[in-house]
Amino acid sequence: MDTLTFQNTLEFARQLDAEDPLASYRNEFHFPQVNGKDVIYFTGNSLGLQPKRTKQFVDEVMDDWKNLAVEGHFYADKPWWDYHERLADGLSKVVGAKPEEISVMNTLTVNLHLLMVSFYRPTEKRYKILCEEKAFPSDQYMLQSQARFHGFNPDDAIIEVKKRKGEHSWRTEDVVNAIQENGEEIALVLIGGLNYYNGQVFDMKAITEVGKSVGAMVGWDLAHAVGNVKLELHDWGADFAAWCSYKYMNSGPGNASGIFIHENHLGKQDIPRFEGWWGTKKETRFLMLPQFDPIETADAWQLSNPPILSLAPYLASLELFEEVGMDQLIQKREKIVSYLEFVLHEIDKEVESTFEIITPEDRGCQLSVFLHGEGRELFDYLMKNGVITDWREPNVIRLAPTPFYCSFEDMYRFGQILKQGILKN
Ligand SMILES: Cc1ncc(COP(=O)(O)O)c(C=O)c1O
Repeated sequence: MDTLTFQNTLEFARQLDAEDPLASYRNEFHFPQVNGKDVIYFTGNSLGLQPKRTKQFVDEVMDDWKNLAVEGHFYADKPWWDYHERLADGLSKVVGAKPEEISVMNTLTVNLHLLMVSFYRPTEKRYKILCEEKAFPSDQYMLQSQARFHGFNPDDAIIEVKKRKGEHSWRTEDVVNAIQENGEEIALVLIGGLNYYNGQVFDMKAITEVGKSVGAMVGWDLAHAVGNVKLELHDWGADFAAWCSYKYMNSGPGNASGIFIHENHLGKQDIPRFEGWWGTKKETRFLMLPQFDPIETADAWQLSNPPILSLAPYLASLELFEEVGMDQLIQKREKIVSYLEFVLHEIDKEVESTFEIITPEDRGCQLSVFLHGEGRELFDYLMKNGVITDWREPNVIRLAPTPFYCSFEDMYRFGQILKQGILKN
């Protein structure tokens, strides 16, 4: 990225918008308003904006329910009994998988637990789980409770790879060494592919490779990575992954989670798994047989009939991803994040140095900014002035300029508001 030619001016930001092939997609989304203006929305890493077309997808289900009632399962335009299958193709392109390796069900933490039923099979000798230190709290609780469930002490069973003293990110070599040093004892490597706090993207390819080479299972929590960075789950050989759909996937609060299960694990009758009727072959499902006959795809992990009103927004959002494709999104993301970084540095030069970007170069959409000395007042000032960002203790704001709907002008305007906020405080 040629950042040398960047300028911190309104004209330059507008010129970048004029050259942006995705600029028109901003109009595909609803923006909240503050002080009568569209907000500058930096929290697509928490909850993506609502695509305008989503309502039509949800209305369609509401109408089918109204007009067809139970018959909607088979006679709706998009019949409900296999509605979830419509998401597999689009999602497979987003995460670099084969469609049969994808399913959509439940929510993220639930899915990670269910996947651990299949892929965390500890023995007396090989029972440890390797993760990053300070993983997202839900993942920490999940791993601790899984260890206890299997009769192990989490303090002993969980290996947390630490950042080096004084450093803000993890070094790949430290993760690799930790896996190699504990190789024979590790049953599972499970890491957040993009760290929610510092915005770092782990080297998923290298870590998967070394995890597999020591005989461990390797899974990824992709909450912050999906729809954001390049993923090649199939080629990397990850055993499994799961993600939520409400961040960069723009499919609505608390919405359904996607899972990936490598084809090496599909079509097996004897794999340990918690099972339910939506995982049995659909051709014989309604014969109500006592014997579970697993679908030969990742859908074998489905338990219940799917929540159609949740899947409808997910399908709407995937249509947008299909139109644009990850490559274009990533190109814009790299440019807009670089521009934001440039604007931050320019503002930092103009005011007395007060903040530090703690996100390393291996990053996606998010820049995490540590506010030295400044704090909640500055954050409150930003929010009151139409910059929607979020706050993470002790002193970090996270800025995620989502390529689908953020503009370069947003970045410039944000810089000006930030400057005013710092000078005022
Ligand atoms: C990295 C990560 N893992 C897990 C979760 C938990 O997701 P859920 O509440 O959908 O289970 C989140 C939520 O933001 C997250 O960011």
